[in-house]
Amino acid sequence: MEVFPQRHLVVTLCMSLCCLWGVLSMPDPKYRDALIQIEASMQTGGQVVLDEDEKRLNSRLLQMKQKEVMRADFPPAMHFFKARDLIKESPLFSLLQKVPKGAALHVHDLAMVDVEWLVKNVTYRPYLYMCFTNSQSIRFIFSSEWPKLLPYCSPWVLLEKLRATTINSTELDDSIKRNLTIFTDLDPDVLYPTQDVIWGRFEQAFLAVLGLVSYAPVFTDYYYQGLREFYTDNVMYLEVRALLPEHHDKTWALKTYQEVTKQFTADHPDFFGARLIFTVHRGVNSTVMASVVEEAMKLKREFPDFMAGFDLVGREDQGRPLWYFRNELSLPSDRGLQLPFYFHAGETNLEGSEVDQNLLDALLFNTSRLGHGFALLRHPVAKELSKKRGVALEICPISNQVMKLVDDLRNHPGAALMAEDHPLVISSDDPAMFGSSGLSYDFYQAFVGFGGLRSNIGTLKELAMNSIR
Ligand SMILES: *[C@@H]1O[C@H](CO)[C@@H](O)[C@H](O)[C@H]1NC(C)=O
Ligand SMILES: *[C@@H]1O[C@H](CO)[C@@H](O)[C@H](O)[C@H]1NC(C)=O
Ligand SMILES: *[C@@H]1O[C@H](CO)[C@@H](O)[C@H](O)[C@H]1NC(C)=O
Ligand SMILES: *[C@@H]1O[C@H](CO)[C@@H](O)[C@H](O)[C@H]1NC(C)=O
Ligand SMILES: *[C@@H]1O[C@H](CO)[C@@H](O)[C@H](O)[C@H]1NC(C)=O
Ligand SMILES: [Zn+2]
Repeated sequence: MEVFPQRHLVVTLCMSLCCLWGVLSMPDPKYRDALIQIEASMQTGGQVVLDEDEKRLNSRLLQMKQKEVMRADFPPAMHFFKARDLIKESPLFSLLQKVPKGAALHVHDLAMVDVEWLVKNVTYRPYLYMCFTNSQSIRFIFSSEWPKLLPYCSPWVLLEKLRATTINSTELDDSIKRNLTIFTDLDPDVLYPTQDVIWGRFEQAFLAVLGLVSYAPVFTDYYYQGLREFYTDNVMYLEVRALLPEHHDKTWALKTYQEVTKQFTADHPDFFGARLIFTVHRGVNSTVMASVVEEAMKLKREFPDFMAGFDLVGREDQGRPLWYFRNELSLPSDRGLQLPFYFHAGETNLEGSEVDQNLLDALLFNTSRLGHGFALLRHPVAKELSKKRGVALEICPISNQVMKLVDDLRNHPGAALMAEDHPLVISSDDPAMFGSSGLSYDFYQAFVGFGGLRSNIGTLKELAMNSIR
C-alpha cells in the first residue's frame, strides 16, 4: 500500500544524491536532514502550517517540554497516581489546560465527575442510605423509607444518622471517597498487584457510584457537573458512553440527558454540546444482547441526533468477544436500520486470544471509531483498515497505564501511532476513577509521553481537529 508516494520520491532522490556524495563513508548530512524532515512531517500535526504567533508560542512550549524531559522523575514514565501532583504543578500542564482540546469522545457516564463533589454534595443530601458489602465496598440508595436488604451487604444505615454519631466526619468522608474511585495515595502497585485485582476494585467503585447517581435529582445535577468539569478544562464537545440506569425507563434517561445538555449549552453558549453512546455490559448473554440491540434501535429512532450509537462496556478480557454476538450485532444492518457502533476493542494484552480479534471484528461491523485500540500495532490488517477508512482510535493513555496494560507511557502504542499520524483522538475514559479530571492530564501524557520532544503545537492542533473531524 503506497501511503506516501511523494515521500518515497524524496527518499529515492536523496539516496541517489548520497551516492554522488561519493566515496566518503560518512552519510551525507543533507540526506540525513531530509530524512529527519520527512519523519517529522509524517507525525500527527506534522503538516500543520504555523503562523508567527503560533511559532512563538511553540518555542515557549518546547522550552517547557525540554525542562520536563530533563526531570529525573519524568511523569509519563511514572505511575499516574504518583505523577499526578508533579503534573499538576508543571507550568506546561497549566498551559495545556488552557489549550482548546476539541472533543472528548471516550468518557463513561459514571466516572465523569470528581469524587470530591460526590462526597461533598451528593452524600450530604437527605434520605441517603448506605450499606457495607462483603467485599469491603459500600452501596448507596436514596429512599423515603427503609430500603430492602441487598444481598452481600449489611443492613442499611441512614448516612445522616451515621454522620451524627461519627466522631470524625472527615475520616468518614475520606473512606467514602476511597470507595468511589481507585485513585490512592498508597503504592498502587502494592494495592493493585494484578489486572484482576484492579478491575475488581474498579467495578466495585462503579457500583458504589451507581447508587448515588441513579436518583433522578442527583442524576441531573451530576451530569451537569460532569459537563462543567470538561467545559472548564476547555473541551467543547462530549460523547458520553452511558449505561442508563436499569430502574429508570431508558427513554426518560435519554430525554433527561438531552435536556440537561440543552440547559448547559444555553448557559454556556460557546459549548458545542454532547451526544450519548448507549452501552451494555459485555457480560450479558445473547438473549439479553438481542433485546438490548432492539432497544438501542428503538432509542436511535426516538433520538436520531442526540444518540450517537451503541457500544459494549466492561473488561474485554473477561467479557464475551464481539464475534460471540455476531447475530445480535447484525440485526440493524439486516433490517436496513442505522445504528452506528463505537466499539471498545483491543483493550487487551492477551495477544492471539478470541478477545484479541475484537479489533478486526469491530472494523468488520463498520465501527465508527475504536475505543482504545491498544492492541492495534499487533494487527497490521486492522491497522491498515482503520487508516484507510479513517476509523479513529480513542486513545486513553492514563486509563491504559492505571489498568496495567503498560507501565511507561513512552512505550504506549499511541507513541508509534502518533509518529505516523494514524487517525486517533485522545480521551480520558474514566477520569474520576483515576484521580484525574477533564482531558488535560491525558493531553499532557500524549504530548509529553507519546510525542517526546518532537511533537509540537501543530500536534496539539491536529489532535483537537481530529476529535472534531
Ligand atoms: C450541589 O449541587 C447543586 C447543583 O450544582 C447545587 O445547586 C447545590 O447547591 C449543591 N449543594 C451543595 C451542598 O454543595
Ligand atoms: C479527623 O481525622 C483526620 C484524618 O485522620 C485528622 O487529620 C483530623 O485531625 C481529625 N479531626 C478531628 C477533629 O479529630
Ligand atoms: C469503604 O468504606 C468503608 C466504610 O466507610 C470502609 O470501611 C472501607 O475501608 C472503604 N474501602 C476502601 C477501599 O477504602
Ligand atoms: C440470560 O440472562 C438473563 C438475565 O441474566 C437470564 O434471565 C436468562 O435466563 C439468560 N438466558 C439464557 C439462555 O441463559
Ligand atoms: C459494512 O459496510 C459494508 C460496506 O458499506 C457493507 O457492505 C456491510 O454490509 C456493512 N456491514 C455491517 C455489519 O454493517
Ligand atoms: Zn472505556
